[in-house]
Amino acid sequence: MAELKFPAGFLWGASTAAYQVEGGIENVDWAQAAREGKVPPAGRAADFYNRFESDFDIAASLSMNAQRFSIEWARIEPEEGKFDEKQIEHYRAVFAALKVRGLTPVPNLWHFTLPLWFSQRGGFLHEDAPEVFARYCRFVVERLGSEADLWLTHNEPMVYSAKGYWDGVWPPFLKNPLRHLRVISAIAAAHRAAYRAMKEARPAIQVGIAKHNIFFESNWNPLNMLRCALSDRFWNHRFLRLIAGYQDFIGLNHYHHRKFGATAGERAAAVRSDMGWELHPTSLYHCLVGLKRYGLPVYVSEHGLADAADSRRAEFIRNAARSLHRALADGVPVKGYLHWSMLDNYEWTEGFGPRFGLVEVDYATQTRRIRESAYVYKQICEKNALVD
Ligand code: BGC
Repeated sequence: MAELKFPAGFLWGASTAAYQVEGGIENVDWAQAAREGKVPPAGRAADFYNRFESDFDIAASLSMNAQRFSIEWARIEPEEGKFDEKQIEHYRAVFAALKVRGLTPVPNLWHFTLPLWFSQRGGFLHEDAPEVFARYCRFVVERLGSEADLWLTHNEPMVYSAKGYWDGVWPPFLKNPLRHLRVISAIAAAHRAAYRAMKEARPAIQVGIAKHNIFFESNWNPLNMLRCALSDRFWNHRFLRLIAGYQDFIGLNHYHHRKFGATAGERAAAVRSDMGWELHPTSLYHCLVGLKRYGLPVYVSEHGLADAADSRRAEFIRNAARSLHRALADGVPVKGYLHWSMLDNYEWTEGFGPRFGLVEVDYATQTRRIRESAYVYKQICEKNALVD
C-alpha cells in the first residue's frame, strides 16, 4: 500500500454558491426568470443562509480545513449604489463561523446571478459595468478583506457567456455570437477593474477567478487535432490571457473531458455521472498540467459529480487525489482542492434533481445526511494523504 502524501497546509474542503444553497434570494435575474417560468425557482434551496453554522459543523466533522462559498451581490447592493451593511454583518458571521471551526474561507464575489438592477441595464455589456462591479468588490473587501486571504471575483466566465449569450438557455437568454464575444471581454475588463480596486483597498489579499477548463484531446486525425487545439486555446486559455497580470492564483473548476474523434466504443465504455457527464479518471491531472504555464498557485475551486446513488463519488474523489498528487510531482503548484459540492443544491436549469452533495439534503425537512463517499474524503482530509 502506498501513501500519497500532500504538502503541509494543503487545503481540503468543499464549495457552495449563494443562489444554489442560501434560499430567499428574489432580486436577481435568475429569480426573475423563474417568475417568468423560464427556469426552475430556487425558493428556500438548502436554507444555508440560516443553517451555515450547522453545515460548517459537518464540514469540520469531515476533517476539512477549507470552504468556498459565495457572497450574493444582490444582497450587498440591492439597489444601484446602495449598500446594505446588515448583509455585510451576515457574511461577517459566516467568516467567523468558518474561523472558529478551523476552516479557511475562499469567498467568491459573483457566481452567475446578477442583481436585477444590473441585469436590467444590460449586465456586463453596459459601458460602466467594470466600474460598477469593481465598486461592489471594493466595498466588500474594505469591510471584510481582513477575513480571508484568497478572494475570487468571478465564477466560470466562459460558462456564463456560453449559456447566456450563445446557447440562450440562461439569463439573458440570447443567442448572439457577437455579444457572446463582447461579454467575455467585458467580464475580463470587470475583473481587471475589480482586481485593481481590491488590491488598492487591501494590498495583502490574493485575488483570482474560478476558471472552468475542459480536458480536450484528439485521435490521430489532423482535423480533429486542429479542433482540439483551437478549443483548448479558446475555452481554456483565452480568458486567462485577457486577465494576464491581474491574478495572484488560479481557481480551477473542472468537470468535462472531450475527445475529438472518440470511437463509439470509447464513448460507450465511459463511466458517467447522473448528468451524463463522463467521469474521466485523469482529466483533472491534465487540466492542472495545462495551467503550469502561468506559473501561479492553483486551487481546484470545483470538481464533482451528480451521483444520487453515491455509487461513483468515492472512486471519483480517490482519482482526484491521484491526479492532484501526480500534478504536484510534475511541478504544478497545486495548493488545495474544494469538492463540488458540500451540499445538494439548486442545479440551475436542472432545478433540484441532480445530487452533487457530499451531504444529502432533504428539501422538505431541510435535514442533512452525510453520504458514505464523504467519509472516504474525510480520510484523505484527515491524513493529508491518500492511502492507495
Ligand atoms: C458551476 C456550479 C454548478 C456545477 C455543476 C459549475 O459549472 O460553477 O454552479 O452547480 O458546475 O454543474
